[in-house]
Formats: sequence, C-alpha cells, structure tokens
Amino acid sequence: MGSVLTNPLRVGLRQERVIPPQCLVIFGASGDLTHRKLIPALFELFRQRRLPSEFAVLGCARRPWSDEEFRQKMAEAMASEVAEHRMAWEQFAAGLFYEPVDLQDPPTVVRLGQRLDMLDRQRATRGNRTFYLSVSPNFYGSGCRALAAAGLLSDPARSRVVIEKPFGRDYGSAQELNRVVQASAQENQIFRIDHYLGKETVQNILVLRFANTIFEPIWNRNYISSVQITAAETVGVEERAGYYESSGALRDMVQNHLTQMLALTTMEAPGRFDPESMRNEKAKVLQAARLANEDEPWKCCVRGQYGPGGSSTRPIAGYRQEPGVNPESTTETYVAMKLFINNWRWQGVPFYLRTGKRLPKRLSEVVLTFREAPVHLFDAASGAPTPNQLILRIQPDEGAEFKFEVKAPGSGMRSRPVDMAFSYDDSFGEPSDEGYVRLLADAMLGDPTLYTRSDEVEAAWRLYTPLLELIEDAPNQLPVYPYEARTWGPGAADSLLAEDGLAWRRP
Ligand code: BG6
Repeated sequence: MGSVLTNPLRVGLRQERVIPPQCLVIFGASGDLTHRKLIPALFELFRQRRLPSEFAVLGCARRPWSDEEFRQKMAEAMASEVAEHRMAWEQFAAGLFYEPVDLQDPPTVVRLGQRLDMLDRQRATRGNRTFYLSVSPNFYGSGCRALAAAGLLSDPARSRVVIEKPFGRDYGSAQELNRVVQASAQENQIFRIDHYLGKETVQNILVLRFANTIFEPIWNRNYISSVQITAAETVGVEERAGYYESSGALRDMVQNHLTQMLALTTMEAPGRFDPESMRNEKAKVLQAARLANEDEPWKCCVRGQYGPGGSSTRPIAGYRQEPGVNPESTTETYVAMKLFINNWRWQGVPFYLRTGKRLPKRLSEVVLTFREAPVHLFDAASGAPTPNQLILRIQPDEGAEFKFEVKAPGSGMRSRPVDMAFSYDDSFGEPSDEGYVRLLADAMLGDPTLYTRSDEVEAAWRLYTPLLELIEDAPNQLPVYPYEARTWGPGAADSLLAEDGLAWRRP
C-alpha cells in the first residue's frame, strides 16, 4: 500500500495512539478545504493504518449529491494521489458518504441525526462523532446551535465540534461567538483549529525548549536581544478574494498562525504536557503581550499590498487586479509589527512579526537573536561580529540552525560566523505530515492540546484591537503601502527595524 506503510523507519519512529470507532461529519463538504486538505489528510491517516475499520466520513452541504457523486468529486480533486494508491483509495472511499444538509434548516438536521444512527449500525461507529464546521464563519454559532437543538452534542464524551478559523473578526465578536458555542457544547467538546499547531516544526518549538537543558537558561531577556517571526508566502490571494477582501493579512495570518508561534516561543514550561496545563501557559503569555505602541499603534505596524511584478515573460498580477478584488481595495496582503511581552522573562525584548503574500520565498521561521559578547577581543572578518542566532525553520526545509562565531582560518585571530544545522529530512528521512493529519487525528482522539481554547483566542484578538480599531476608524493613519510582487514588502517595514538599529533576516 505504498511507501508510507513499507518504510520501516517511518513505522519504527512513530508511536501513534489508536483512533476509536468514529464518524467524521464535514459541513461544507463541497468547499475547497474538504478536497484540498481534509479528505487528503484522512486518506493519509488511512494509508498509515491509523483509522479504525469502524470509520465513516459523512460529507454534508446543500448540494443534492449522492454518496457516489461525493466519492467521485473527491477522487477527481485528488487524481494523482488516487492514481498512485488506487487500491487503498477504493477501500477508503467505501467509507465516504454524503447527506444534503443545511444547518439553517432544522428538518435537514433531524434527517442528519437519522442518517448518523444508520451509519452507526452500518459502520459500527458507536455514536462517536466529530463534526467539522468548514462553512462560512457567519454560520459557526448558528451551526453549533442547530447541532445542539437536534441533540447531536448532548454526549460530551462522544461528540465534538471542530471550528475552522477565523474564530471571530475581533475581540468583541470572538467573545460573542464563544458565548454562543459554549451554550451549545462544553468547552472540552469545542476544537478551534489553527493548522500551524499541527506542523511538526511548530510542536518542535516546545520539545526543543523543554526537552533540553541548554536552551531554557538563556531563553530570556538576559540573553536574547530580539525575536523575529516570519511567515512569507509566494502565492497571491488565489481564488479566495471573497474571503480575503474582508480579512486581510492581519486577520488571516497574524491573529492566529503567527500568534501561535509567538505563544509557543515565549510561554513558560507547563507543569505537565496535558491540554489544560499547556493552554494555561499559552493564554497567560498572550495576556502579557502588547503592541509596542498601544496608544499610537501606527508607530509599530506597517501594512502593505502587492502590486504587479514578475518579468515580462511571466508577469504577476497585482492584488487589485486579482479576480474578485475591488480595484481600489485597501486590504493588506502584508503586515509587519513590533510587540513586547510584559513579564519577567521578556520585558524589553522586541518581537517583530511579519507576513505577506507574493514575497520572494515561501518560508516560515522564528529567529532568536542573542546579545552581543560584552567585550570584542577579536576582529570580525566581516567588519562587525555577528550576534549568535537560533533559527527555528518551520517550513520548508524543516529544522533548526544555530549561528555562532569561530576562528577564521589563517595566522590572525579573526572571527567569522558559521552554522550548526539540524534538518528533519536528514535526521528522520521522512517528510512531515501535513498539519491537518495530526490535528484531525487529535480531534477524533478527543485530545485538544493542539487546539486553541476560548481565552487564548480572545487574548489574541485583544492584542491586536488597537490596530483593528485604527483600520476601522482612521485607515489613513495606517496606510497600505504598495510593494512589487516578489519583493520583501514595503520599505516602511525595513524602517520599523532600522529605527531600532536592526534589519529583517533575508533568508
Ligand atoms: C491559511 C490562510 O490559514 O494559511 C492562507 O488562510 C495561507 O491565506 C495559509 O495561505 C498558509 O498556510 P501554510 O501552511 O501554507 O503556511
């Protein structure tokens, strides 16, 4: 059944928990996420033999598809994978079903309940249900209400709901949404997903910090002078203008993915590795985070939007020329900002966050820059000694690297920076799973450790409130600077660091 199962190393290194009999119900099954991420992740779990034989996926959307049509659509969307693993796909697809459901239309939700009872009998799924809301965010609250009203969330041990991002649009709407979903289900049934937490390298931030003795003693304001967190993408808005126009990079990437990387980099060690201890620490550190200038937020944030770029033979459209985008749009596709964390560990250390679409490279990383040696005994070959840096490479080329000075060869005593690197690929010889593989498995296991709790989501929104309010009330104070596609964003983002005598790392 393909290399995944026959690679002894892969089987040997993994210690996987067993997913119990289960029906995964996907609302929004005709949407993009289902065939791009969810079904491929489930198929991967199937090929890794991690799904039990008592398993079913029930796709739900308004379209009147049959089971067979749903299977067909999924197979078409994953054509190359299906061709490569034809036999496995046939077995997997036998567990895919479809039911037309409109969560706003109670009779269809009642019918859904009946269909689930039937599937329990047919596939022996024993009433264990994971409901995945991959629908428009406007329907998260009413969707949970509809499921609760139909009695589908009444057993907290057997039913849970996974909610996609964005969870709210700002602090107030996130609080309100939390109130609504918590009236329908207990907090331990609610799984707010952030796919960055499913990435091996994001989880590795914790292991690197808390499974080694050498990092923690220096992981603080006494040794670290600044931290940069970057998530750069080469893609543009793709076909998602409808969503992105009202979201922008701040809501799409910063409030969730970058903030989660920030939280894992800065949190205290939990007493135990269990969901609540972990999430207590993340919530605590996010509650201590502040924009560098809360009262004048325009001083600590730069927004940008990609314009046309590329070459004459391969031109790249600017954001405003993308299909579905308002030609006068002021939605940002790039954000850079400076934060502080007001606690004993981090007081005074600047954290610089940046993300953007249509940048020259796809790359996510956390860069910790250490303070300079107190005395410079040696001349640096490059003119000035390079401060030590620890670079956590989230993607691609997953791993970590440490930069430090050594003696440059020759008769003098000059220093020169070198790298010590670790690569997942070289050390483990297998690609990491997509984030959704790990996260879907965890949801079906009922393990919320890598999911975001209500207080964390609220703290993350509260952190960016001064910026969101400014964009709403006085957008001219936070202008959207154009940048050429395939460049590293607007010059103003460089000035943000230059004011502190620093520069963005150019990988
Ligand atoms: C999604 C955003 O959450 O993350 C997208 O909505 C973005 O706009 C994507 O492209 C990036 O994820 P990854 O895993 O490719 O870094």
